[in-house]
Amino acid sequence: MKLLLVGGGGREHAIAQALVKSPRTEKLYCAPGNAGIAQIAECVPIGVMEFDKLIAFAKEKEIDLTVVSQDDPLCAGIVDAFEAAGLAVFGTRKNAAIIEGSKAFSKQLMKKYGIPTAAYEIFTDPDAALAYLETCSYPVVLKASGLALGKGVLICGTKEEAQAGVREIMTERKFGSAGDELVIEEFMQGREVSVLAFVDGSHIALMTTSQDHKRIGDNDTGLNTGGMGTFSPSPFYTPEIDAICKEQIYQKTVDAMAAEGRPFTGVLYFGLMLTKDGPKVLEYNTRFGDPETQVVLPRMKTDLIDVMEACMNGTLDRIDLEFEDNAAVCVILASGGYPEHYEKGKKITGLEKFDEVDDCFCFHAGTKFAEDGSIVTSGGRVLGVTAVADTLIGARARAYEAVQWVTFDGAYMRHDIGSALDKI
Ligand code: AMP
Ligand code: GLY
Repeated sequence: MKLLLVGGGGREHAIAQALVKSPRTEKLYCAPGNAGIAQIAECVPIGVMEFDKLIAFAKEKEIDLTVVSQDDPLCAGIVDAFEAAGLAVFGTRKNAAIIEGSKAFSKQLMKKYGIPTAAYEIFTDPDAALAYLETCSYPVVLKASGLALGKGVLICGTKEEAQAGVREIMTERKFGSAGDELVIEEFMQGREVSVLAFVDGSHIALMTTSQDHKRIGDNDTGLNTGGMGTFSPSPFYTPEIDAICKEQIYQKTVDAMAAEGRPFTGVLYFGLMLTKDGPKVLEYNTRFGDPETQVVLPRMKTDLIDVMEACMNGTLDRIDLEFEDNAAVCVILASGGYPEHYEKGKKITGLEKFDEVDDCFCFHAGTKFAEDGSIVTSGGRVLGVTAVADTLIGARARAYEAVQWVTFDGAYMRHDIGSALDKI
């Protein structure tokens, strides 16, 4: 088959690796890709929001399947556009991608169908939001309803902080139109787990679990980022928790979307908080997580193309989704200064060492080729170094060994990815 993958981050590098592993893949294109993806696919300089150009390319190259797993194009209707052009595409249609695109929608969905989540209120008027803050207990969580690159969530310890947050999001419009609606919700405490699942409109097949580390600093300090590292599986996700989630969350969400006339097809990401009152949904995403994918897909045994086709054909119940009985840890190497100001164009050295081993992968996120052919940084999160081993502790040790092989000027990483594993 000829495939086109849309996107160019670490998640897409991991998806590309799983796609080229399939014996069904003859040729993989990636738009726009990055310097790492270019080693296993042909990258084409088309942006993820350039739907007309992507469709023209897919027609010209007679692409059999296009794969999209990035929120912006999905929420803007890339799947609908490809389908209207008669092209096969894996991803979520616009009317279902709203489950990520509007937190107000997803909260109302959960309330309507009795899916456990934090208590909340929705506001479109800043004065009403400010008045509500007088009645809240603290900390409280403010969320810009729309897409904000994972940065539109503020955890406010005091009323004063929350008042400033409401002004930032709604009045100063720090996240643009994403802040036209504001969700104010109860602060929950507990361990986070990410559960990714394939969905075909009515059936759901769960992938293995993982845990992300969202804050920039060690011991979960500092600003929220897109994710600084992951491990999989999560040992905190017990069979008891799994049973509760299966009863109260997963299939119920898929059925709720179908009942709303928004059948969900693609990858549904459940961000869960394991609270003392049971698991609750923090957020839904309409795509593979980043950097969760970098620890989940290297452990998947089932052919990714077979699963994607089953999602598109409504036959996911006939797929036996299997994962290796092993573990993986991913450590992100970021540009110094991320998630605020950082410099680009730093030369990356040591990448070739990954060609010599088969238990470690260096997934590229923000990289590109310089004019002299060398590979340089081009984003905040630059590389995701993943190690696979028999155990989580073994995978973590190997990932921290492998991350020493590569470097660039100002490289920054967290040193405590998976440190919670020591407590079990
Ligand atoms: P979200 O984009 O909704 O997943 O929020 C980003 C991060 O903020 C989550 O991964 C949590 O770490 C934190 N967060 C979001 N909502 C809450 C909540 N209600 N209580 C505590 N932490 C939260
Ligand atoms: N790692 C969080 C996300 O993909 O949204």
